[in-house]
Amino acid sequence: MATPHNEASFDEIARIVLMPGDPLRAKYIAEHYLSEAVCFNTVRNMLGYTGYYKGKKISVMGSGMGMASIGIYSYELFHDYDVEYILRIGSAGAYSDELQLFDMVLAESAWSESTYAKAQGGETSDVLYPSLKMNACIRKNADKLGKPLHIHRIHSSDVFYHEANVPDCEDFCKEHGCMCVEMESFALFHNAKQLGKQAACLLTISDSLITHQATSAKERETSFHEMMELALESAIA
Ligand code: ADE
Repeated sequence: MATPHNEASFDEIARIVLMPGDPLRAKYIAEHYLSEAVCFNTVRNMLGYTGYYKGKKISVMGSGMGMASIGIYSYELFHDYDVEYILRIGSAGAYSDELQLFDMVLAESAWSESTYAKAQGGETSDVLYPSLKMNACIRKNADKLGKPLHIHRIHSSDVFYHEANVPDCEDFCKEHGCMCVEMESFALFHNAKQLGKQAACLLTISDSLITHQATSAKERETSFHEMMELALESAIA
């Protein structure tokens, strides 16, 4: 069994999938954190792997960037491969000086101006929520590991570059309560809701739209390990 975008057979994918945006990140995670990792997808280079972490079967697959891309891959994982849990692991830009570079953020909800959810399933709300069960598990593990976690509403934006004549970070923060921006979670949360599945999103602040600071590639690597430990421990809990 395969889909137009995934060549895996049904039992090659675990019930829980970690989804970084970058498929090469998925490869890195498989090679550095999982044992017996086997690649299950190379279609469009959207790499996916299944292996074991502390004896539990876990898959990791790239989502690509933006709502349309994660919309396709997460829909197929939930619908065609009967995946139960997807945990997005990504980066975000801070909208407030309450968030510093490298801070970890767990999405409490995602606000978006995107038409993804409306077009996909007639959703009328512009705020969508992650799985309460997954969020509780991630919070518990963050406490156990002593990792500070910021829990906020996030903005899932359809654009990375925008002109000066449209609402900006101050508006999104003041009017919608969003503390940082990424580009995928609203679509992921919608697909989970639509298909009766569970999703959550864990982010590391990689840049600030307030101070215009940004992390270096090397720094992102280290902060990524912090987030991975929390993601993996939560995935096996
Ligand atoms: N992901 C990380 N930084 C971002 C930003 N500034 N805008 C959108 N998505 C992001």
